[in-house]
Amino acid sequence: MPDQSRYYVLGAFFLGVTLTVAYNNRASQQVSGDVESNRLLKQHQKLISRLAKINDLDTLKKSLVEIESSLEKGAGTIKEGIEGCIGDTPLIKIKSLSDYTGCEILAKAEFLNGAGNSPKDRVALSIIEMAEEKGLLIPDSGDTIYEGTVGSTGISLAAICRARGYKAHICMPNDMAIEKSDLLLKLGAEVERVRPAPIVDQNQFVNLARTRAAEHTANSNKPGRGLFADQFETEANWRAHFTGTGPEIYEQTGGSLDAFVSGAGTGGTISGVTLYLKSKLPDLKVVLADPPGSGLFNRIKYGVMFDPKEREGTRRRHQVDTIIEGIGINRVTHNFDVGRELIDDAIRVDDSQAIAMARWLVEHDGIFVGSSSAVNCVAATKLAKMLGPGHRIVTILCDSGARHLSKFWKTETVGGAEDDVSLESILGT
Ligand SMILES: Cc1ncc(COP(=O)(O)O)c(C=O)c1O
Repeated sequence: MPDQSRYYVLGAFFLGVTLTVAYNNRASQQVSGDVESNRLLKQHQKLISRLAKINDLDTLKKSLVEIESSLEKGAGTIKEGIEGCIGDTPLIKIKSLSDYTGCEILAKAEFLNGAGNSPKDRVALSIIEMAEEKGLLIPDSGDTIYEGTVGSTGISLAAICRARGYKAHICMPNDMAIEKSDLLLKLGAEVERVRPAPIVDQNQFVNLARTRAAEHTANSNKPGRGLFADQFETEANWRAHFTGTGPEIYEQTGGSLDAFVSGAGTGGTISGVTLYLKSKLPDLKVVLADPPGSGLFNRIKYGVMFDPKEREGTRRRHQVDTIIEGIGINRVTHNFDVGRELIDDAIRVDDSQAIAMARWLVEHDGIFVGSSSAVNCVAATKLAKMLGPGHRIVTILCDSGARHLSKFWKTETVGGAEDDVSLESILGT
């Protein structure tokens, strides 16, 4: 090798060393703990020794350029465990609904949260972190989280519990889609499927979870303690959306949106997002999407909760008579109440509209979602028609249709039936 080239090679080699050391320092600042720093140090030592073996200037130059660009691309993209895959979900323009209405209909793809694949990932993580901060949960001690859920929160809790060294015990109504309880069992949760009952009944799924948590704590033969997650009443729920979902929507739209549409189960999503967005955009219109049998529609529209025939306690079999899961309720929970006064209007969506919309979204947009997402999309499209072209409306896609194969999606087939249904007939216009 000519002398001059040697200098180049040497110079490039030291540049490589400087680069990797600089990256090492930057990365060390970003990650916490000696274990992580040691891992990075080893990685960089390997990189340097690989570079040291190159004695041809062109190959060395090429390698350095490649390394520089991969460091740039890679920095910060590695997630810290499954919890690192929660939040920052995409905002998707639903093209068919936007074209039809002349409005931009945007959907926050919450089914892409990485642990339990629904907005409940944010809530479950927030509940666990809050309890950890208060010293109420100790990893690998047998501490168990108990929750009453129609499925989504349980699935998120069960996944995050596994990652953090806790156990999960889920109480759910036995008329929810079977794939949800199957999934919970595969995640290692204990599952109690109970008869649907009104909240006044001590065996109602939420009441039962509270009782089970207390029984665990009182039982000295059981390791650890029982913690009742209490998604309907806990501050951790709406706050997760106030600090996560709401700000993300604001940023993703550049603060330019006219309306937000969402269903409510616990009410955490609609309250948290609304409280954040209205603090920035006081003129934003917020609309509740409500399924049949839920009392929330009347509460928002007329200030009264119940139709006499829907009064809590009068229906022994079903709390809410609908095929739709996850939204609709006949009591005002704390999580709904914190944002209630900021909700401007409500739109009722029936089961057949939701089923037809779910099928429409697959046939025209390739988007495969569950029942609450379909309700949201019907309401968002109705609202767009009411507001007229030129508006921007954000709604939520909560979970995938894969969670609803045995019930909501049971009778539906897609493909070859594009002409069967029109958006006019779905919306009833
Ligand atoms: C699938 C699904 N969609 C929507 C919701 C409603 O969200 P929130 O409880 O924040 O009102 C839930 C609640 O459990 C759900 O399971």
